[in-house]
Amino acid sequence: MQTKIVSKNFEIPHANSLEVALKNGRYTSLEKLFTYQPQEVIDIIKTSNLRGKGGGGAPAGAKWQLASDFEGKKYLVVNADESEPGTFKDRQIISKDPHLLIEGIICTCYAIGANSSYIYVRGEYEEFSDILQIAIDEAYAKNILGDEAKYPVEITIHRGAGAYICGEKSALLESLEGNRGHPRLKPKSPEPEFYFGEPTLVNNVETIASVPFIIENGAEAYTAYGTDCSSGTLLFAISGHVEKAGVYEAEFGVGMWDYIQKLGGGVKNGKKLKAVIPGGASTPILPAHLVMEAKLDYENLKSLGSALGTGGMIVLDEDVSMVKALKNLLRFYHHESCGQCTPCREGTSWVDKTLDKFINKTATLQDLEVLKSVSKSMNGQTICVFAPAASGVIDGFLKHFESEFLECIV
Ligand SMILES: Cc1cc2nc3c(=O)[nH]c(=O)nc-3n(C[C@H](O)[C@H](O)[C@H](O)COP(=O)(O)O)c2cc1C
Ligand code: SF4
Repeated sequence: MQTKIVSKNFEIPHANSLEVALKNGRYTSLEKLFTYQPQEVIDIIKTSNLRGKGGGGAPAGAKWQLASDFEGKKYLVVNADESEPGTFKDRQIISKDPHLLIEGIICTCYAIGANSSYIYVRGEYEEFSDILQIAIDEAYAKNILGDEAKYPVEITIHRGAGAYICGEKSALLESLEGNRGHPRLKPKSPEPEFYFGEPTLVNNVETIASVPFIIENGAEAYTAYGTDCSSGTLLFAISGHVEKAGVYEAEFGVGMWDYIQKLGGGVKNGKKLKAVIPGGASTPILPAHLVMEAKLDYENLKSLGSALGTGGMIVLDEDVSMVKALKNLLRFYHHESCGQCTPCREGTSWVDKTLDKFINKTATLQDLEVLKSVSKSMNGQTICVFAPAASGVIDGFLKHFESEFLECIV
């Protein structure tokens, strides 16, 4: 069931060193890359149907085109903030095969005409960031990066300071510019992001790490995996009540329950499955009966009222209290709201506090109505999708597990 494209070298000892990386196929895509014109590379990415792996699934080729269409200085920013609970895939790439990421960055910079790239790494990832820096230094020393390289690219690592919202691309750029990590208002029509006023492409680590395979093997080799709309593979992470928590790459479209059993080793201690949060903490929960029919691709999970997100599955067994689980999540959202928008700042706080009443069994029916109405007010009226995502999480718990909330009412 495992399909290894991005994770191909993960098990090779010391694959993070340049010497071992070179012996195992790293940087070979560059030979092919330079036989193409930049626009041809973008067209290959478009044909490959590569979708962003940071949670939204936006078509990568179209985003590259937006940045490429601008003349002059531009940037590539790689999003390695990875602060979403349940998501821990990008750090695998950074620590186990950092040269794959560097190779992908060179390909992407060449395609869009950038010569500078920043990697914004989650603040807590000090150890992984150090491994990545060593790999970057090695690449400079061998003229794979820098002025003497065939295509000059500079890479700079920037460590975040531990805020979840700094993973949102515009907040990330604000933070990179030295400002508070506040998301920006979205433009009315599609345009690239801007870093200090210059057009900038922001992509997730895994998106960029998927590029060398496509350049080397062609778009069709990538679309041969996955489904028609969700091509290729994803580094799905699995955690919670499973026997073998970890990160296992698989094709889009595999069955969720099949994946949990075969790769996650099944529910821990032989317990029954109660639910799965399918794609990181910000995706709506799926009760066990829907998990049985769920497929790990964008379209299927949307049709079931949830989302693929980052593909980080959190498995919950029969003993989990859904009231406590929602409280846990809302404490996180309350803490991480950047506070710019009233529905988000006040809404996450209200829900967090109201859930205490359910935990203490002092809630009334009116409190249940408060949860529902506050959640509604958080949806669709904010600068970024943080609040609508939190609203979807609340609604998911109430839709599928309302009876557990009713049991806490006096
Ligand atoms: C609250 C919030 C947190 C996010 N955190 C991350 C993150 O840690 N890593 C990431 O790649 N994308 C994250 N995103 C999505 C980014 O805004 C952006 O869509 C993504 O980096 C684009 O790359 P992709 O198209 O390759 O997925 C987050 C979005 C939101 C709203
Ligand atoms: S929705 Fe929340 S996190 Fe996003 S900008 Fe508004 S206050 Fe900040």
